[in-house]
Amino acid sequence: MSKIIGIDLGTTNCCAAIVEGSAVKLIPYKGGEFIIPSIFAIDDKGNELIGHEAKRQWQLNPRNTVYAAKRLVGRSFSSDVVELMKKTVAYELKPGERNDVVLDVGHKNFRLAEISAKILNKIRVVAQDYLGEKVTRAVVTVPAYFTDRQRQAVKDAGKMIQLEVVRIINEPTAAALAYGIGKNLHETVVIYDLGGGTFDVSIIEIRDRVFEVKATGGDIFLGGLDFDQAMIEYVLRDFAENHGIDLSSDPVAMQRIKDLAERVKIDLSSREQAPFSVPFVTMTPQGQPLNIEFTFTRAMLEEITGDLIDRTVDILMRVMNDASLDPKRVDELLLVGGQTRMPAVQKRLTEIFGKTPSKGVHPDEAVAIGAALYANSLEDNSNLRLQLLDVIPMAIGLEKAGGAFHTVFPRNAPIPNARAVEATTSYDGQTEVAMRIFQGDNPHVLHNELLGDFLFSGLKPGPAGKARLEITFNVNIEGILTMSARDPDTGKQMKTTVRVTQH
Ligand SMILES: Nc1ncnc2c1ncn2[C@@H]1O[C@H](COP(=O)(O)OP(=O)(O)OP(=O)(O)O)[C@@H](O)[C@H]1O
Ligand SMILES: [Mg+2]
Repeated sequence: MSKIIGIDLGTTNCCAAIVEGSAVKLIPYKGGEFIIPSIFAIDDKGNELIGHEAKRQWQLNPRNTVYAAKRLVGRSFSSDVVELMKKTVAYELKPGERNDVVLDVGHKNFRLAEISAKILNKIRVVAQDYLGEKVTRAVVTVPAYFTDRQRQAVKDAGKMIQLEVVRIINEPTAAALAYGIGKNLHETVVIYDLGGGTFDVSIIEIRDRVFEVKATGGDIFLGGLDFDQAMIEYVLRDFAENHGIDLSSDPVAMQRIKDLAERVKIDLSSREQAPFSVPFVTMTPQGQPLNIEFTFTRAMLEEITGDLIDRTVDILMRVMNDASLDPKRVDELLLVGGQTRMPAVQKRLTEIFGKTPSKGVHPDEAVAIGAALYANSLEDNSNLRLQLLDVIPMAIGLEKAGGAFHTVFPRNAPIPNARAVEATTSYDGQTEVAMRIFQGDNPHVLHNELLGDFLFSGLKPGPAGKARLEITFNVNIEGILTMSARDPDTGKQMKTTVRVTQH
């Protein structure tokens, strides 16, 4: 059997690693970089491009270049997130058959899981080239704040390409593994992971080989892309004020601005100012070429993105509160994700915790390394015994009359976990009971994510309120829910059907 690799399937970048002998190694792409851009494109000849090849052509082909698709995984077409994405991306989003999202790329429709599958496959091929053997199994990381449905989508993506996703683990948890394995630590760490698309924070107690998550939280729509977007909007406003031209409807100009915004943002992490210049971005009605030309300063960037950092701090504080932990009692602060290189982020966190962040983790690589170490511990012949105790990021529960949300597992409930709920019939002769299951922290189901509509059948017909059934909610170690029901009198299992999985 081939070895299990670890994959960090990021919003903007992917990274893979493997344990060879006693060392963990990042898997290089063509001998060089360790990172593969999470970009999928179809060029005008109909060729599919993934990773670096896709990134190289995206300025010229924005319409058929898909990036940040992770933000759409497991989303309903009618959700606010999808509305927001429609405004910022140049590729086309369409409603799918199950009110999911479908992307139109090169005149073909792709489901989100298919896009993830293409990217996973690229990583697999790169790994195979490097290792010289087939890769069929992987541990894949997801944001801690992913719902059951988003986790399922990653499993499905693996199935599409015959890559067995042996285990899904949370990105911050993986980073903590990379930091803590083999050091015989006894400490409480905070992982602040601000990547390209998502923000996660987890508080983890490390007791040598036991990694116990105390609380987690996040926002899967808060990351480096939003910092870029703030810059883009600033540049568009400035250009409109100076020239009276709105560039937002010009996809090629937008792509050039977007590209440069990210590069200037990165520059401003190591410099106080940087030029923002896009020559010949458009023309006046008289045919005169126009340029974008000004200097962006670090102070300007900090001013327009201050609210984004505030949002991460609010979430951080809530999680600290959930764990009843005082910032001064945190032993180490681990920064993960490229956007944590921004000096303003580091400064803010240093103030809160009264200490500088740990140098013990690499912000781009820790997640893949942790996934590989965990993968290694799952191998039959492994002598590394790890115990991961994770939690669910949002409550899971069922819909009560009038749309009220009845919590079965509260947020931060440890996993794996199982709970039984008793139900009965509401009319005479009823043989089936339907139940809608949601995930979220709102008291009304409408504002939470529908995980599934379950039907339990095979009840003995009788008067209303007489028949009983015991429904078991089972959340596995990956944060994935399964449901089952039985007759508590006879112990007989009932048939369970999932009717719809999407709003
Ligand atoms: N020096 C830097 N200063 C500021 N931002 C940076 C720097 N280097 C990278 N970034 C930003 O970090 C983000 C990418 O981070 P990372 O690769 O950790 O994300 P990801 O793993 O793809 O996404 P996610 O974890 O959210 O799914 C990008 O938005 C990038 O612009
Ligand atoms: Mg990441």
